[in-house]
Amino acid sequence: MPKWLQDAVFYEIYPQSFNDTNGDGIGDLDGIVEKLDYIKSLGCNALWINPCYDSPFKDAGYDVRDYKKVAPRYGTNADLYRLFGEAHKRGIHVLLDLIPGHTSEEHAWFKASQKQERNEYSDRYVWADHTFRIENYPYVAGESERDGIYMLNFYKCQPALNYGFFNPTEPWQMSYKDPACQKTKEALKDVMRFWLDRGCDGFRVDMANYLVKGEDENRTGTCAIWKDVRKMLEKDYPDAALVSEWANPPQSIGAGFHMDFLLNNPGTGYSTLMRDYSNAKSNANTSGVNNKKVDVTSDRSFFKKDGNGDIMRFLNDYLPMYKESKEKGGYVSIVTCNHDTPRARRTLDYDELKLAYAFIFTMPGVPFLYYGDEIGMRYLDIPTKEGGYGRTGSRTPMQWNRNKNLGFSDAHEEDIYLPVDSSSDAPTVEAQEKDPNSLLNTVRNIINLRHEYTDLNADGDFEVIYAKESELPFIYKRGELYIAINPSAKTVTANVKTGSKIIYSIGNGTLNNEGITLEPQSFVVIK
Ligand code: NOJ
Repeated sequence: MPKWLQDAVFYEIYPQSFNDTNGDGIGDLDGIVEKLDYIKSLGCNALWINPCYDSPFKDAGYDVRDYKKVAPRYGTNADLYRLFGEAHKRGIHVLLDLIPGHTSEEHAWFKASQKQERNEYSDRYVWADHTFRIENYPYVAGESERDGIYMLNFYKCQPALNYGFFNPTEPWQMSYKDPACQKTKEALKDVMRFWLDRGCDGFRVDMANYLVKGEDENRTGTCAIWKDVRKMLEKDYPDAALVSEWANPPQSIGAGFHMDFLLNNPGTGYSTLMRDYSNAKSNANTSGVNNKKVDVTSDRSFFKKDGNGDIMRFLNDYLPMYKESKEKGGYVSIVTCNHDTPRARRTLDYDELKLAYAFIFTMPGVPFLYYGDEIGMRYLDIPTKEGGYGRTGSRTPMQWNRNKNLGFSDAHEEDIYLPVDSSSDAPTVEAQEKDPNSLLNTVRNIINLRHEYTDLNADGDFEVIYAKESELPFIYKRGELYIAINPSAKTVTANVKTGSKIIYSIGNGTLNNEGITLEPQSFVVIK
């Protein structure tokens, strides 16, 4: 386990929307370098950069054309190496996004694989050896010289790399132990080595749970791949970190990941925490991605002032996962949001967001802050871009100041990657810097507190002290620190002995012989 993760707080950057330094309307790597001091000022000491590789961008870069080349729109490989160096100078680690399950249909491996004549890449992707039959998985027919159909991993532009099948049921399906499938794994490791040798500190791994096809729920074949990758890291890159998009921390940590995201998949507790549409009208679409029809007025997120949120709904899902992940030696990563989910600001206002973030940044595991969430950027209702669809509204340009395009870019307004928030009260970094009570400065204070007390580290103890169904406050303990939170509009009390001194607060709390009282929308840390 890389030691630096104990105190790590990540900042996720969607590179096309962060900071444009060459005026072409798209963010770039130099733009990230320019803002490293800002990122450091938040207390973030690690980055996850969404895919920045050469790509036709039909899925915003998750369709990789060349794993070893930076997309020209972001800069050059040399720019990325410089970014690694500048980040390291400031004590910031950098994770790239690794997309192991598929490439772009324009990748050289796939083009070779589409040829009828057998070659080195014929088995690099999952091909069925017939053209005129329907299979159970999504396959594409009629696009290749090769007489066969190829399996998709996600969009049509993303053919599935071949890691084999767990239990092959057709003659053309290879066992995951087949040498051809092992070769795919070695190719993946080669890509990892390429970037790790040049200063990268690890990877966020896309759809990490879905490499071997036709698996049972234990994911035995896919886990075997990651165990082997972890062995490589332990031997040659012991400081490199891996975080998975798996949404099953015990399983992914068992497979060798250091951390797994708590995402808004059913059963993870994330949704009941940050957005909870269980009261929504029956025709409302409650998915985190296609959110057009969501009835947000019914949100019961735990942090909503009038939401009647119930922390037990989160804890019942989270606690077993947390305990098992801890036993297995890994971390659950709670995110403020990400590029695939609606921004929390869609349903939580600034005061509610302060409490949500105070909670996220005092929990065990390794937290992730999505760019712009620190100022409460909105989810915008805008047309799709590069395969974003309902996710596009969470991917708009960072709002730095009141200059042109809110400081994101000097390009003409119509040439920027996505529109900026045009409301007169669009939050900006510049405005919030000046206000000591802004969301931005609250985020800074909480993250600083996390760094100040080792009890708040990733592996510091976590214990639930007071949590009742439909009752507040919620009190938990991190090491020697007690933390109490009351998101509601009512003053609440609990007859619980905590410490003697409040060392940090949002809103107001008081301690007396009986216990603790918290005014509406308050959060306190007690020593
Ligand atoms: C998950 C990524 O986060 C998402 O943005 C992408 O579209 C899919 N995986 C496919 O790579």
